Amino acid sequence: MEKLIREWDGEEIITRYDHPTGAWIFIAIHSTRLGPAAGGTRMKSYASVEDALKDAMRLSAGMTYKFAVPGMPFGGGKAVIAVPAKLDPALRAGLLRRYGRLIGQVGGLLNTGPDLGTTPADMDLIAEHGSPHVFGRTPAAGGAGASGPATALGVFNAIEVVCEELFGDTSVAGRRVLVQGTGSVGGSLIGLLTQAGARVMFSDVDEEKVRHFRDELGLAYIPPEQLFGASCDILSPCALGGILNADNIPRLKCEGIAGGANNQLDTPEDAERLRQRGILYAPDFVVNVGGAMHLIYAETLGWDDARIEQDIAMTVRRTLHQLFDVARNEGITTDAAAYRIAEARLATGPAADRPELAIGRN
Ligand code: PHE
Repeated sequence: MEKLIREWDGEEIITRYDHPTGAWIFIAIHSTRLGPAAGGTRMKSYASVEDALKDAMRLSAGMTYKFAVPGMPFGGGKAVIAVPAKLDPALRAGLLRRYGRLIGQVGGLLNTGPDLGTTPADMDLIAEHGSPHVFGRTPAAGGAGASGPATALGVFNAIEVVCEELFGDTSVAGRRVLVQGTGSVGGSLIGLLTQAGARVMFSDVDEEKVRHFRDELGLAYIPPEQLFGASCDILSPCALGGILNADNIPRLKCEGIAGGANNQLDTPEDAERLRQRGILYAPDFVVNVGGAMHLIYAETLGWDDARIEQDIAMTVRRTLHQLFDVARNEGITTDAAAYRIAEARLATGPAADRPELAIGRN
């Protein structure tokens, strides 16, 4: 762990051990170069404490690049609450409140919100002591609610752009799209895709979700062990990160990848592996910016849903077109192109065109 922290390229890590539950909390601040750090709070159990720390580090870096590509004046951060495999549900609220106190104590170092394993109702508890640094509380508590549907909207637009690049037509009608993970993002995405006439397939590990999407909605189900060999036009990873690797990339039978999950590539070399296979990869942190835009624009600028949705669609489409052009013209991977755009922004500093964005305005 010392080595991990010493060699990390981020700014700081805050660590808390929560005695009553045995949970480890890591708040990772990757970069405040463009503004105050923002990023969700992920709650799950990990194989080891070190894995949890690594996840926080990687996810917070992802947030830095997520904000940098479209030029949003925020820095990258993320929190991980690594809970024991069997956390007593009765202890959950207390844990969230203590975590909220920590968010309040570090006053603005991390502006957090929902992420995998946490909900707007959880944000209400965190905000009791963590306000005003908590996005995505329930609408009843004055928050912008879940970010999943907005993330899904961005993913949907990304899939359209990928289709345009691959097939010369933005429409997803008749395209076979395989959605991995039917949680907050994947579930909403399936709705948008079906509405637009795509042939949706899905994969999930949760029995109940499988029953709902396969048996009640009649969608084609791909068992997790067949996911990477399944033939489809677009693969859309909307579950955990690190799922594309040297082992499964050679087996993929898709033409493009665009999904909502963070950190989809196991290692940076996987981008090159995908390029060599002729698979068009839409970089995750460009595709999944919609959730962050929803929370931040609704809560700091007071924008209404229609305006935010329009801005998400425009931002995702514009940045993807831009980076696909860079990748093509320079003969580099789409991932490298996305980092190049982000690094350029990080080098020049915050955009002057959005000074109105300030946390805690509303
Ligand atoms: N967890 C989501 C993301 O990583 C939404 C989020 C963004 C939450 C910014 C808090 C702050 O994009």
